[in-house]
Amino acid sequence: MALFKKKDIPQSIVDLSSLNLPTHVGIIMDGNGRWAKKRGLPRSAGHTAGAQTFRKIARYASNIGIKYLTVYAFSTENWKRPGVEINALMRLFKDYLNEGLRDFRDDSIVLKFIGDRSAFSKELIELMDENEEISKDRDGMVCNIAVNYGGQDELIHAFKDISEQIESGELSPEDITKELVSDHLYTKGQPDPDLIIRPSGEHRTSNFLLWQSAYSEFVIMDILWPDFKESDFDLALQEYNNRNRRFGGI
Ligand code: FPP
Repeated sequence: MALFKKKDIPQSIVDLSSLNLPTHVGIIMDGNGRWAKKRGLPRSAGHTAGAQTFRKIARYASNIGIKYLTVYAFSTENWKRPGVEINALMRLFKDYLNEGLRDFRDDSIVLKFIGDRSAFSKELIELMDENEEISKDRDGMVCNIAVNYGGQDELIHAFKDISEQIESGELSPEDITKELVSDHLYTKGQPDPDLIIRPSGEHRTSNFLLWQSAYSEFVIMDILWPDFKESDFDLALQEYNNRNRRFGGI
């Protein structure tokens, strides 16, 4: 499988030094199925192309100085898809995990997997653990790959944890604050996303980073994920810079 090396990363189409870069970018990698359908290919071909786009954009984001990137690879609701598509996604994920042990090393990217990994095979769980362990001391961008992730599911896990701590007397109900809830999420210790990009034109969150996106800027783009290029990432950054973020103030 072709790996993108640093030297292959194109230069930005906009003057990034004039932009206020978001610290944390989330991406809903949508449109793989439509991309494949347009070409008369099976949906799995769209996911294969989408996985390549992921590699390319993660590397680009890291190269231009984004500190955190979270990509939505498989949701808690995606299990409803036909078995053949789920198997194709699991195969792609396994390929990536095998490759990830060496891929991204040159880019110093730290890999993390967010979501309920108990639903995956022992082999995949071990590979995720191994990827996290091997990359944890790198000093580059943190790349969260959301797998079997759902914002509602994440909050249910957090509320269960907090309830247990209350039951054991470790916490009292008055201790429940926004910070405490954040500390019980998969993204514990990370800043909330400033910008969430959704290619493929759909206007919904699809259960992605529900708590963390309270004040994220959404940029919806009319392009299917496998076609997404570095220049599209630049355009999203430019659009983000046009936004006036008030966080509820004036
Ligand atoms: C949504 O498009 C995409 C997914 C459910 C899967 C995303 C997965 C990848 C990009 C590849 C795996 C990534 C890694 C980290 C190796 P869709 O299938 O819903 O497209 P559609 O809306 O056009 O049908």
